Amino acid sequence: MPNVLHFILRSLCSFFYRFIFSPPVTAKFGNKKLPNAIIVGVKKGGTRAVLEFIRIHPDVRAVGTETHFFDRNHDRGLDWYRSLMPRTLEGQISMEKTPSYFVTADAPRRIAAMSRHTKLIVVVRDPVTRAISDYTQTLTKTPDLPSFQELAFLNQSQGLVDVSWNAIRIGLYALHLECWLRHFPLEQIHFVSGERLITDPAGELGRVQDFLGLKRIVTDKHFYFNRTKGFPCLKKPESSVSPRCLGKSKGRTHVQIDREAVEQLRDFYRPHNVRFYEMVGFDFRWD
Ligand SMILES: *[C@@H]1O[C@H](CO)[C@@H](O)[C@H](O)[C@H]1NC(C)=O
Ligand SMILES: *[C@@H]1O[C@H](CO)[C@@H](O)[C@H](O)[C@H]1NC(C)=O
Repeated sequence: MPNVLHFILRSLCSFFYRFIFSPPVTAKFGNKKLPNAIIVGVKKGGTRAVLEFIRIHPDVRAVGTETHFFDRNHDRGLDWYRSLMPRTLEGQISMEKTPSYFVTADAPRRIAAMSRHTKLIVVVRDPVTRAISDYTQTLTKTPDLPSFQELAFLNQSQGLVDVSWNAIRIGLYALHLECWLRHFPLEQIHFVSGERLITDPAGELGRVQDFLGLKRIVTDKHFYFNRTKGFPCLKKPESSVSPRCLGKSKGRTHVQIDREAVEQLRDFYRPHNVRFYEMVGFDFRWD
């Protein structure tokens, strides 16, 4: 009899010890599973902000870095991909974001082959400001880059746009969406407006939560507007001391592009935008 008691006490002890000295619950418990939802695009649309905002939700666990599985790392296989995922408890959603998927021809087919139930999120933004923002970012890494106009136009006086330049090509949303619609129904793709994400982050996040089948827990109490920056920020950033804000990082300012070039690009994108609005059934008002 004393032996049994001793055994029980010891088991209880080790149980409590494990509890006290173990890492945070989710780091130890739960399983790694392939993502239920992926933010697939677009570059410079506000994908980082959407991921940081949605992961405040207790039922969302996300990979912080871009995995590039469905474009560059597909050869590594699904087990490798799964190993990158965070541990999730039952009922939690697993997510990742890699904005280049949206313009990768093979990505829709590959994601559908993993699971045709994967929910897809695309953060879109006026393709002209997106292109300028994209160019500005490249310029900080490559200071001797030719001018925006030189890259954007084959012949500017003819208004001939170079659609092979990535910064231009990415903004042809209707074209890319066509590839996705061959593998996924439209209802399985949610579009976030990069513009409304700035003016009404809580509203946009509300719709993202609805789409993911989550309770609306991320609300306007989680955001404040930084007037100096001119962008919304998170009140309680997860695992970060510095505030998480949308908008220009590291004080980057957009390069000034002459009005004429901007108008020419607006004319160029207009029919593509209209087609995109018709496809998704929403007018993003980029004119
Ligand atoms: C651009 O087009 C104009 C008008 O057609 C022509 O005169 C000019 O030579 C072209 N420039 C280049 C670089 O092809
Ligand atoms: C607001 O943004 C400015 C400029 O980026 C920054 O210096 C300041 O600390 C921010 N304030 C708050 C409350 O986040």
